[in-house]
Amino acid sequence: MTGSSTAVAHSNIALIKYWGKVDSRLAIPATSSVSLTLDAYRTETTVEWGAEQDSVVLDGAVLSGVPADRVSRFLDLVRDLAGRSDHATVVSRNTVPTAAGLASSASGFAALAAAATSAAGLTLAPRDLSILARKGSGSASRSVFGGLAVWYAGTDDLSSYAEPLVDPGLDLAMVVAVVNAGTKEISSRDAMRLTAETSPYYDAWVSASRSDFSSMLDAIGAGDFTRVGELAESNAMRMHASMLGSTPPVTYWEPDSVRCLRLVRELRSAGAECYATMDAGPNVKILCRRPDLATIRTAVEELGVAGVTTALPGPGVRIDRATA
Ligand code: PMV
Repeated sequence: MTGSSTAVAHSNIALIKYWGKVDSRLAIPATSSVSLTLDAYRTETTVEWGAEQDSVVLDGAVLSGVPADRVSRFLDLVRDLAGRSDHATVVSRNTVPTAAGLASSASGFAALAAAATSAAGLTLAPRDLSILARKGSGSASRSVFGGLAVWYAGTDDLSSYAEPLVDPGLDLAMVVAVVNAGTKEISSRDAMRLTAETSPYYDAWVSASRSDFSSMLDAIGAGDFTRVGELAESNAMRMHASMLGSTPPVTYWEPDSVRCLRLVRELRSAGAECYATMDAGPNVKILCRRPDLATIRTAVEELGVAGVTTALPGPGVRIDRATA
């Protein structure tokens, strides 16, 4: 039985970050996280079973080595679930610059999980799809859902999953200041392991983030944009502080990242309320409300960084085409 499916997933940016695992094989995180799926960056992936060996083409280039192995290990999970032993041809297109801290692995593994299971004839409930996607890349568990999502850390395979959060009309938007879209020097996977193993600030990060997480759920529930933004910004800074304490230090920031962070402070005091967050890369994502999007975009353009993208809440993963 062959079977082919195409799935589309969008990236997400965490407002409360995931940084550190308690179980790397199963990707059980140390802390729960909250994210916003964006409409701007997406991955479209087609999976066709019935091949002699697994192959992966990403943006027209055949993958080999570690990235290809990572996809194959993920397909092993789908083979186990579906009880099949054949291989798959995977063709994927990203509008996210790959491995630049713009959440390409989140949309990538969410799309792969949906396409590979659908093409194998499986119909997974959203929670089960989230659990599967998590094992490809932790953040992918959240890209199964649109808009705001929460990923409960849980304690084992079945209790660590994401689900959508009700948005009480926060009217969120994001301006992405692309400081450098090149590939990062150290992957988030390696950097979070290094932080957990060597940073004296890691334990402090874990306890601070746990408390940020419950405050964030309260702030979202209350529809309090100011509190949501303040928590998102300080949680991101705390995550980067834990990285700086690693040996060797993990430093994703570039001079333009700092210029963007200053701009966010200036915009805020000038009345355009916005807050910054950063991931495993130098790019700065600016959380704001939709009516302020144009003002903030113009201000970032005037700063003169490599690129500026605006985004609104995006949809969850979907199957676009499936043939038996
Ligand atoms: O799951 P990964 O390997 O994409 O790690 C994500 C790490 C951060 O983007 C920095 C934080 C997060 O929660 O998305």
